[in-house]
Amino acid sequence: MSTEEAAPRPNTPVGTYDLVVVSNRLPVDKVTRPDGSVEWRTSPGGLVTALEPVMKQADGAWVGWAGVADDESEPFEHDDISIVPVTLSAADIEEYYEGFSNDTLWPLYHDVIAPPTYHREWWESYVRVNQRFAEKAASVTATDGTVWVQDYQLQLVPKILRELRPDLTIGFFNHIPFPAYGIFSQLPWRAQIIEGLLGADLIGFQRAADAGNFTRAVRRLLSFTTKGTAIDVPIDEEISEAIEPARVSTSRRGSLVRTVHARHFPISIDTQSFEDLARRPDIQARAKEIRAGLGNPKVVMLGVDRLDYTKGIGHRLKAFGELLADGAVTVEDVTLVQVASPSRERVAAYQQLRDEVELTVGRINGDYSSISHTAISYLHQGYPREEMVALYLASDVMLVTALRDGMNLVAKEYVASRFDDDGVLVLSEFAGAADELKSALLVNPHDIDGLKESILEAIQMTKSERTKRMRALRKRVRDYDVSRWSTAFLSTLTDPSGTPSYVATKWGASDR
Ligand code: G6P
Repeated sequence: MSTEEAAPRPNTPVGTYDLVVVSNRLPVDKVTRPDGSVEWRTSPGGLVTALEPVMKQADGAWVGWAGVADDESEPFEHDDISIVPVTLSAADIEEYYEGFSNDTLWPLYHDVIAPPTYHREWWESYVRVNQRFAEKAASVTATDGTVWVQDYQLQLVPKILRELRPDLTIGFFNHIPFPAYGIFSQLPWRAQIIEGLLGADLIGFQRAADAGNFTRAVRRLLSFTTKGTAIDVPIDEEISEAIEPARVSTSRRGSLVRTVHARHFPISIDTQSFEDLARRPDIQARAKEIRAGLGNPKVVMLGVDRLDYTKGIGHRLKAFGELLADGAVTVEDVTLVQVASPSRERVAAYQQLRDEVELTVGRINGDYSSISHTAISYLHQGYPREEMVALYLASDVMLVTALRDGMNLVAKEYVASRFDDDGVLVLSEFAGAADELKSALLVNPHDIDGLKESILEAIQMTKSERTKRMRALRKRVRDYDVSRWSTAFLSTLTDPSGTPSYVATKWGASDR
């Protein structure tokens, strides 16, 4: 048997792209202007920020949804990336995207901070839409090509894709946490999800703990043998002939198995591009203008999040409100800028969160703001990257208080922007970034007193301490940027035995 024998299923169309990324959202959103003309605009979100540079380098294609209902656009080129749109109807958006992805999986995978909703119709829609994404990816990928599937919205794609195209090498990366079995096991379709993911050759997670939770779920639900990062997936002989020989072996029990690897690859950002922006004189001038606009307070604190209940915005506001109430800080000295970009606005939990956050902001501002100084500048808007970097430069303290977060790229963006080695990062220990950014002030956001103490510590920190910490943080974010992340993932996907030391030694925590 040779690799040449691996072949697509008869009747499955084959494409031309050697590397295909599949994600729910395309890196561009389709925007229709009032005059009816169409514009493709780079879409927000950590995933896009992370993968854009990878795709620009590779001659690859990106399969995903354009962000609007019933869009039937043909594939096109945008900014050096080949874009292959997948159509979602209004019902798909409601059931697959807002429903199963963001009202079932999202809260479940974030440790049930909000209660997950289980609807059988949503699951059926998730299956149908995953099938559609897999078929589209199968049709554009070249023989023996590589497909890299992204995130929780598409966990069934690896298995479907493997059935359609056994010749492909398939990777999957989960950008959000993978919960402990006690939580994951709530899911009525838990076995199907695990089987879907096991269609991949390599399954990547943000933290070692996520990979461990997944491997335990595999053992509990399917009783497959696991050893370190390797999982033995039993296969029958017919299928084994289509798979690359290096990935097939005989288990101790004498049956044929395909080896799948599950391990962590902490995602990062395009660090240099943030530093380059921060060094631009016009952006530094804008940072000064922002501070002046805030009344030149001694300390500017900043929160930047999608308006999501996982981000701990309420906990942050509570701590700041109490510091004002205690008289530990005053609005003349300390102000908080909270950017909360609109997100998933048709999902009830997000609507409720918006009401709660805006009520709290209104109360704190009503109680403590003066005519000349506002306690909290609350901005329910998204901003271009230039403006974000100006905000990072303008802020003395960055507050990342997520209750659960796969990584949190905002923490890394702040650090990457602070080429002046100044600024203090207050970082939740429940964000994946805390595994790497150990020189931040690490906090448990549930402990409001502890959070208040850390905020005061950040405000009062000496310049030399700030510099020392920021230098250490910057070293980490510079050394491990997004291209290092994608290279590590893709090289491990190609050769699972080739680079384990990269993960085990360079990223701190070792594999199980
Ligand atoms: C998180 C998820 C991404 C998602 C992004 C924005 O970062 O991991 O998959 O694209 O949030 O959310 P949205 O629902 O607007 O795509």
